[in-house]
Amino acid sequence: MSGHDTTNPGNQLHGLYKMLSTFVSDDAHVVEVGSFEGVSTELLARYCHQGKIWSIDPYEKAYEIDSEFAQEGRDAVLKARVVAAKRLKSYENVKQLILTSAAAVGAVTDRTLDLVYIDGDHRRPGIRFDLRAWMPKLVDGGVLAGHDYGDAVIKEEVDEFLSEVHTFSDGTWAARITY
Ligand SMILES: C[S@@+](CC[C@H](N)C(=O)[O-])C[C@H]1O[C@@H](n2cnc3c(N)ncnc32)[C@H](O)[C@@H]1O
Repeated sequence: MSGHDTTNPGNQLHGLYKMLSTFVSDDAHVVEVGSFEGVSTELLARYCHQGKIWSIDPYEKAYEIDSEFAQEGRDAVLKARVVAAKRLKSYENVKQLILTSAAAVGAVTDRTLDLVYIDGDHRRPGIRFDLRAWMPKLVDGGVLAGHDYGDAVIKEEVDEFLSEVHTFSDGTWAARITY
């Protein structure tokens, strides 16, 4: 994993990398909800180099629907879109979808994904929606995962919805889904 220091536990990629190496194969079909500058997307692309990553982020609407980025304003969100496109352009296994999670999920066939990584709208209705809408898209034995388990709202919603949750050093959480 050259290019990013995944050896530092404070690095947000450390836990994501550990989660991938624990639960996910390199040919996985993955949806990421929330790309921002594409940092986690790039790690997913490198790890799942034989697979496929669909990375979903609406960008131009994000300043309205994600309070964290409301403070930073529209310019920061538009810059993130440009940064992500530049970072990800050489990865043939990545498809960026400039959509909200809700707009994208209906186009995905049930039981087709190996991993869904949720890091989008962190407000309670957002994480509630993402957990419930994306879980049926996983194959039997697929992995529902995300970021910011240290956020009280995320932890409450994840713990209420999933029974056996694994957590990692950077706030990554994951659960294997069996039907
Ligand atoms: C914390 S950032 C993602 C960081 C990224 N996963 C990483 O680790 O590099 C959250 C992103 O979620 C996006 N977002 C907010 N609401 C969303 C929604 N309803 N659907 C998809 N993405 C959303 C925001 O635009 C923002 O870019």
